[in-house]
Amino acid sequence: MLESRRRPIIPAARSEVPPFMVMDVMAAAARLEAAGVHVIHMEVGQPAAPAPATALAAARAALANPIAYTEALGIPSLRRRIARHYGERHGVDLDPARVVVTTGSSAGFMLAFLSLFEPGDRVAIACPGYPPYRHILTALGCEPVLIETTQATRWALTGEALLAAHRARPLAGVLVASPANPTGTMMPGEALGALIGTAEEAGIRFISDEIYHGLDYAFPAATALQFSEQATIINSFSKYFCMTGWRIGWMVVPEPLVRTVERLQQNFAISVPTLSQVAAEAAFEGRDEMEALKHHYEENRRIMVEGLPQAGLDRFLPADGAFYLYADVSRFTADSHEFAQRMLAEAHVAATPGIDFDPLEGKKFVRFCYAGSRDDAQMAVERIGRWLKGR
Ligand SMILES: Cc1ncc(COP(=O)(O)O)c(C=O)c1O
Repeated sequence: MLESRRRPIIPAARSEVPPFMVMDVMAAAARLEAAGVHVIHMEVGQPAAPAPATALAAARAALANPIAYTEALGIPSLRRRIARHYGERHGVDLDPARVVVTTGSSAGFMLAFLSLFEPGDRVAIACPGYPPYRHILTALGCEPVLIETTQATRWALTGEALLAAHRARPLAGVLVASPANPTGTMMPGEALGALIGTAEEAGIRFISDEIYHGLDYAFPAATALQFSEQATIINSFSKYFCMTGWRIGWMVVPEPLVRTVERLQQNFAISVPTLSQVAAEAAFEGRDEMEALKHHYEENRRIMVEGLPQAGLDRFLPADGAFYLYADVSRFTADSHEFAQRMLAEAHVAATPGIDFDPLEGKKFVRFCYAGSRDDAQMAVERIGRWLKGR
């Protein structure tokens, strides 16, 4: 064998992204379940319900025909349906030519970062925040700039904090999510509009992750499209439409980026899975079913918001949307990873340690996802209460 062939394979430095710690919790939960223990799953951020019946029926019908590639930007009727959604929900007249269908919002981030930023560019994200933002940016050679937020601003990024980071070293972009993961908090339309204005005046590109739109309980979520034609919107069928495994989402891109994103998608993916696109278009007709589910999450939220303080966990904001609560557990531990492991082993409730979302302060927090059944929410607060009292 040639000497060169024996050289060890070393992964490229940029691929060295940290793991998602929630996976550790999931693996530990699976081991307990294999031993016959009943575990309540509040660690994974996904709905327990299936896609709308309209989507399932459309997918079944589509199987009668060949499942072929589609145009790289997506099936035209789906792009038109998504554009119509902005008119119906937000009163925004959107040209379907700006809509790009993607393989979940996850692919939307890659396309957005690649089309907007050069290697070395600095991109601000709120901390705590969804971990893959920073990991995808790092893998693409950009620098994620974590801006620490607090409960005082309901975990929202402020214009002042953004400008302070920009003055320290210029930012090329900023990414904001409302409703947010892990906190479930939302920015009122005025605050979102003001932040977009501040960013654009400073020449900072704005990306809005709107994946939890539709799951808004406190007030209707505003889209960045209401305030700017320059912002890049990322959305998905994963959460509101319960289609996580279908891997289907969309972007709304500024007009000058459409062809760029099309060329990237042609090369990276050819097109997004056709069956999922067909199902997604039909999902819009299943809104009544999804609205009923939203009310179900809202009831779970009430159970958690009222029940957790009685159980002993009373330091969290009663989140406005999504299906998460981000609770401060620093009264009980200095290490929320260890706290989550013990809660799983002893109370049989799985939750995600905050360190996944916030490398700095996350050791004080645990995230609960309440997208499961009502019984699960009820049982979880009872189990946590008994466990905390018995400690
Ligand atoms: C804030 C946020 N954005 C994006 C995603 C990615 O979702 P998907 O790729 O399924 O659309 C998630 C998944 O949990 C999320 O919480």
